[in-house]
Amino acid sequence: MHEASRAPIFRKYLSHADSRQRFPIVSLVWGRDPATPVHDHLVWALIGVPRGAEIAQRYRVAAGGEVVEAGARKRLVAGAVDAVSPRVGDIHRAGNAAGNAFGDRTSISIHVYGGSIGAPGRSVYPGSAGRKQFVSGCPNDVLPNIWNVSKESPIS
Ligand SMILES: [Fe+2]
Repeated sequence: MHEASRAPIFRKYLSHADSRQRFPIVSLVWGRDPATPVHDHLVWALIGVPRGAEIAQRYRVAAGGEVVEAGARKRLVAGAVDAVSPRVGDIHRAGNAAGNAFGDRTSISIHVYGGSIGAPGRSVYPGSAGRKQFVSGCPNDVLPNIWNVSKESPIS
């Protein structure tokens, strides 16, 4: 098999957001092998898996500032629901090294959030220490997303 055809595939689609950007519903379609970076949300989220399976690993910031695994890695199979929030643990990673549990088929997860996740201020944790701020949005060329603030507006 050609290496380029084995590239990880991961897409996010905004399925719903109300007029005040509350409770957005985002569909994540996982191809083979992808994983998110370790990241936070700043709001609660419920994660349901209608198809396939997803691996989820929670993290926490230790007293010294390093990011460490918190609890066991979970395998969310079809029908499972997981939760993250600033109260129960807000930092996690999803994907094959923690995301799609399968290397050869698509998995889908549906995420409902307690507030806008496209707003600035969220963080990724790229190494064992430190954080980097990012804006997630739901960029794609298939469905329009008026809440996408992950890139500059074409309207000035
Ligand atoms: Fe997440």
